Amino acid sequence: MSPFLLLVLVSLSWAISANAHENDFLHCLSSFHSKDTSPISKVIYTPNNSSYSSVLESSIQNLRFSEPTTPKPLIIITPKHTSHIQASIHCSRKYGFQIRIRSGGHDFEGLSYVSHVPFIIVDLVNFRSVDIDDKNKVAWIQSGAILGEFYYGIAQKSRTLAFPAGVCHTVGIGGYFSGGGYGLLFRKYGLAVDNIIDALFIDVNGRILDRESMGEDLFWAIRGGGGGSFGIVLAWKVKLVSVPATVTVFRISRTLEQNATKLVHRWQYVAHKLPDDMFSAVTMRRVNSSQDGKRTILASFSSFFLGGIDELIPLMQERFPELGLVKEDCTEMSWIESILYFGQIQNKSLDILLDRSYKTTLNGPSFKTKSDYVKKPIPETALEEIWSKLYEEDAESAVIGFIAYGGKMDEITESATPFPHRAGNLYKIVYTVGWQQEDNIKSRRYITWIRKLYSFMNSFVSKSPRQAYINYRDNDIGVNNKGNTSYVQARIWGRKYFKNNFDKLVQVKTIIDPENFFKHEQSIPPLLS
Ligand code: FDA
Repeated sequence: MSPFLLLVLVSLSWAISANAHENDFLHCLSSFHSKDTSPISKVIYTPNNSSYSSVLESSIQNLRFSEPTTPKPLIIITPKHTSHIQASIHCSRKYGFQIRIRSGGHDFEGLSYVSHVPFIIVDLVNFRSVDIDDKNKVAWIQSGAILGEFYYGIAQKSRTLAFPAGVCHTVGIGGYFSGGGYGLLFRKYGLAVDNIIDALFIDVNGRILDRESMGEDLFWAIRGGGGGSFGIVLAWKVKLVSVPATVTVFRISRTLEQNATKLVHRWQYVAHKLPDDMFSAVTMRRVNSSQDGKRTILASFSSFFLGGIDELIPLMQERFPELGLVKEDCTEMSWIESILYFGQIQNKSLDILLDRSYKTTLNGPSFKTKSDYVKKPIPETALEEIWSKLYEEDAESAVIGFIAYGGKMDEITESATPFPHRAGNLYKIVYTVGWQQEDNIKSRRYITWIRKLYSFMNSFVSKSPRQAYINYRDNDIGVNNKGNTSYVQARIWGRKYFKNNFDKLVQVKTIIDPENFFKHEQSIPPLLS
């Protein structure tokens, strides 16, 4: 039989049996759930339902995974009650469907809504309550809330409380907290996961566990070990942190003609040693220069400072005089306003933070991202080679960002949470290339461009293993075999994301989900018994 015919037959039999199972599955869901007051039928979307496509697409962030050829779920469930989630797990196990858990849908590789085996999506969009206790400086947030909803809740209560997380307000709490989570306050207070003090979790047997009943090892694993491996986290309890009523922000851009190469080079020596009251990043992209038809590289230095302008200017004059920061470059505002500023929505009202459908693009609605960690400054000559790559045709919508580490990140041990990238890192690099959805057909070209850049960077970044950030998910660094996750294979990508913490994650997985029900291309594998 020809391989093509075999493929057609396998796909056909898969579709027929998936369909037959689908009806049994739906029956299983409603009978599991029959005693409950809130009927599960109202939160089930099959492809026959007129809202199926809009529910599916509602939070897809990377339109690379929103093509007619992208595999679609058999069913989407948007639970309103924990028993809906328990039913989803129970019936998926019974009928052999995979579950993809979705909170904000920002996974760079689309792992929360795409699978190549029969699957359903459990979308936590209705699990999004935010409960702020400003007196005790703690909060409970459900996983399906977005960062913006959380921040909005904090800002309603106080101008001097905050939470150390990212500036893109549409990112979901569930995925973000599962992978570490950095943002403007991470050099002062660490990552989001460094500030989590409790969680509510549903395991593969449908048990609802909190920190005490899940035990410290599982509690450790869910705070940075990556989403979709251990079970479904329903909600998180976090410590809120203090910020001054006034913070200062600035963004200064310089072209090559304005000495950008030397400034970026110098930044590498300065930024990680800045006081922990400061966040510092620089992004590089190509732009048209003011001289006719010429292109140049624009380096944009941006900072956030926990204090006023009068304190910031002398600090920068002492630490980084070459940048030439002056009062006029800086703006004072509240912490919540700084979220809008860095999210590039500064002209909108605070209500924008509640808008889940707002599309924040990483340089294009379709994109590919990769990450690196840098331990030694990159020489000027290599920076110039990077610029030459940004001039290539397929890099029109590419951006490279350096995010300074140091501060509190140096103080937390590598094994305190699964996120291991702590002391010794000068900065993290994020490379992104974006394109329009209609150019998805040409995606290979852009992806080849970013892979070549990544390969060029090899000698300038962390080694053995070359490290990467789990929340900047990159399937290029290795994926599990379809269905059969093997420890040996997973260790290749696992050590890059987690270094030595990978083995402990495997141990936890082996105990909590020994049959590997919760799995995807980069989920933690159990050790086979
Ligand atoms: P999504 O719903 O796609 O989930 C991501 C992964 O977690 C999937 O594997 C999913 O199955 C799993 N998962 C989701 N909910 C879960 C739950 N309740 N229980 C168990 N598993 C669950 N990061 C950062 O650290 N700082 C930043 O500033 C930014 N900024 C940023 C901007 C933009 C525009 C994008 C697209 C992404 C970022 N990120 C980021 C990366 C972001 O942290 C990462 O993509 C998160 O995983 C997104 O979480 P979501 O819930 O939105 O994703």
